[in-house]
Amino acid sequence: MLLAGKVAVIHGGGGSIGAATARVFAREGARLFLAGRSLPRLERAAAAARDAGASDVDIAVIDAMDQADVDTHLDGVAMRAGSVDVALNAVGFDHVQGLAIADTSLEDYLHPTVGYLTTNFVTAKAASRVMLAQGSGVILTISTPGARLTGRGLIGNAAQSAGLEGFSRALAGELGPAGVRVVCVRPHALSDAVDSSYTGEMFGRIAAAGGIGMDAWLEGLAGSTLMGRLPVLDEVAEYLAFAASDRAASMTGGIANLTAGALVD
Ligand SMILES: NC(=O)c1ccc[n+]([C@@H]2O[C@H](COP(=O)([O-])OP(=O)(O)OC[C@H]3O[C@@H](n4cnc5c(N)ncnc54)[C@H](OP(=O)(O)O)[C@@H]3O)[C@@H](O)[C@H]2O)c1
Repeated sequence: MLLAGKVAVIHGGGGSIGAATARVFAREGARLFLAGRSLPRLERAAAAARDAGASDVDIAVIDAMDQADVDTHLDGVAMRAGSVDVALNAVGFDHVQGLAIADTSLEDYLHPTVGYLTTNFVTAKAASRVMLAQGSGVILTISTPGARLTGRGLIGNAAQSAGLEGFSRALAGELGPAGVRVVCVRPHALSDAVDSSYTGEMFGRIAAAGGIGMDAWLEGLAGSTLMGRLPVLDEVAEYLAFAASDRAASMTGGIANLTAGALVD
């Protein structure tokens, strides 16, 4: 198993990517600590992880924007489990995409930019304190293709995603000498997440503004990839499990392109 003996904390652990990753981490032998905002979603994710083979899944309602709460939780995990080997931030929330700059308020522009950069700073800071002391660990972040795309309607998403990729790259350089890795993954829109993710609302609004249904809008997006399809949740989760494992021991500072070829490097 890829993650036997590893202790993994997932913020946004009840979300679409968080829960899918918890299932794969569980199958690969990790001891799981899922943190998130909504208890029922965390409970469902924990039950699915147990079904996938996890013997030990802990859940906690933690605001991933709050440094003191996240620090206290992480320190508690390290105390109880003996280490924190993997820390994934899979927090997500609805925000404005698809509008011209003239129709975008400063608040709507800053909402994803400040929010995503805040939560990733908060959780990475907490994890890095523990991991630096251990001399090992992997911090995982999740960006979007907006980091590299251009066009109308992307400014907030682009600033957030490019900022997060820069943050991940710089942090990898800071923590690398101490044996701590940082890997960012950049999936395209996940076709099977729209029923459970904030993206359902967001993509629905963008599609409606263009006068089409969400399925047609997603089909158009799929048609712009080299593979003619969008990625799915399990593909992201499987990649994250590999990146978190010792098999990826020389991988740090990288941005993994999981866009099914919407972007090429
Ligand atoms: N889905 C995609 O197509 C896609 C593609 C590329 C990148 N991504 C990235 O992947 C990440 C996760 O997206 P997702 O689709 O898995 O989203 P999701 O299904 O909506 O899940 C996000 C989770 O984050 C939780 N959350 C939000 N704010 C929080 C806070 N302050 N503290 C703790 N937890 C909080 C949510 O809690 P609640 O349950 O209370 O809402 C939810 O469980 C995001 O960074 C997103 O940009 C997603």
